[in-house]
Amino acid sequence: MSALPILRLGTVKVVERFQAHVASLGVHIPCDSKLLAGESSPLRLALNRGGIRIGNRIAVQPMEGWDGGTDGNPSEHTKERWRKFGGSGAKLIWGGEAIAVSHEGRANPNQLMIAVHTQKGLSELRRILIKEHRRTTGSEDGLIIGLQLTHSGRYCRPNRHTKPEPRILYHHPILDKRLGLSRDYPLLTDAEIETIIADFHRTAKLAEDLGFDFVDIKHCHGYLGHEFLSAHTREGKYGGSFENRTRFLREVVAGVRANAPRLEIGVRLSAFDTVAYRPDPSKSVNGKPGPGIPEVHDHLIPYRWGFGVDANRPTEIDLTETIQFLSLLEELNIPLVNLTAGSPYYNPHIQRPALYPPSDGYQPAEDPLISVARQMEVARELKRRFPNLLFVGTAYSYLQDFLPNVAQAAVREGWIDAVGMGRMILTYPEILHDASEGKPIEYKRVCRTLSDCTTAPRKGLPSGCYPLDSYYKHSEFAEKLKLAKAKT
Ligand SMILES: Cc1cc2nc3c(=O)[nH]c(=O)nc-3n(C[C@H](O)[C@H](O)[C@H](O)COP(=O)(O)O)c2cc1C
Repeated sequence: MSALPILRLGTVKVVERFQAHVASLGVHIPCDSKLLAGESSPLRLALNRGGIRIGNRIAVQPMEGWDGGTDGNPSEHTKERWRKFGGSGAKLIWGGEAIAVSHEGRANPNQLMIAVHTQKGLSELRRILIKEHRRTTGSEDGLIIGLQLTHSGRYCRPNRHTKPEPRILYHHPILDKRLGLSRDYPLLTDAEIETIIADFHRTAKLAEDLGFDFVDIKHCHGYLGHEFLSAHTREGKYGGSFENRTRFLREVVAGVRANAPRLEIGVRLSAFDTVAYRPDPSKSVNGKPGPGIPEVHDHLIPYRWGFGVDANRPTEIDLTETIQFLSLLEELNIPLVNLTAGSPYYNPHIQRPALYPPSDGYQPAEDPLISVARQMEVARELKRRFPNLLFVGTAYSYLQDFLPNVAQAAVREGWIDAVGMGRMILTYPEILHDASEGKPIEYKRVCRTLSDCTTAPRKGLPSGCYPLDSYYKHSEFAEKLKLAKAKT
């Protein structure tokens, strides 16, 4: 267990106690005491912006399963997950999951890929999702489905789970060491970047042909799009100035617009970051990792390897360039923005707050509610500055039983336009839909952030909720996961 006295939210039965606990942490998380149902529920309000109409305020975050075929096609497990996406009743499906624009750009050999030979499979995922959505809500009116297009950059492992094949834009003083990259490890050349941009153009056209409503040009979590934003030390036209670091985005967007004019474009953005964290070795108990602490970085000031961080105190947020980036999205007429933070690889506590760490993580560096509040507060500030952009918020799953109360308040008070759910989708996809219908919450299905959905893929197994979802609990993978966890 954590070295910090963290209140387990599963033991908190009444909303007033939750509210008091949040206040005692010195953070602000909006939370309604009473859930509203039917027409009066803020979660049921449609969103209209430009030509976009989204039927309610519930969004499904991209949730990869590490369960496709080595050829990039979906498997039965992938279909099961997309059924859950549809069954959530959410009218905004953001990305489905990370889908690689090329084989080399895959994060693992089981990541989905968009190509001519996977079109049929991806089309089936969309069909399954829509069918399930109709079953839950009675209509597909106002349903918007996007695909998250990605290249995994520094985190590419296209051929074997155990074989990293990083494609990097610059040398990073901390992350290169973690990946064992030497000083002369090759950088992606400008010509190689242009090929990757062309892959985005080509695959956006495929997405349009498949009937998807938008593509997300992924700029988060340490993958390639995100790495461009922090490429301060890269030379040439894709590095250095803000203009150069956003050239990738602008060139991708221009080609997507030319090739696939009916598609809307969205961007999932790590709006802020912090330096890489590691377990505190002095606080490790019985071989279990200690709480997260920042890597030593005093010698790296001003810090030139981050985006949305204060260069003089890189564990602190600086939104100056984030705001510049959102202005650019407005200029480019990109209305759909999904805000997230950091990376699951080097600072998972800010990205996906959890009580229990994944196998490659650390015990919470802070009460995870503080991490939730941080993402919510940044989203609120950005929404305030950019009222015309359509924002999806992230990191709500840790709120557990109080997710509906917080989601309702966040939308009602205008903190965010749509509430995105990640891990909760794996266990209880309809939670917000149920709440907005006045149905009682099924507490046994609530995600408790045990992190097996991240640990399983770290062990080369499909992701899913092993503790709560009988589909995984009784699967052939459950025993393998148990054995793999026992070894670490
Ligand atoms: C198993 C798993 C798979 C994920 N896959 C993706 C993905 O494909 N693309 C992405 O942008 N984020 C992905 N994420 C991050 C989630 O979309 C989300 O940002 C994160 O889980 C925090 O939201 P939550 O608190 O609702 O879980 C994944 C997270 C988990 C746990």
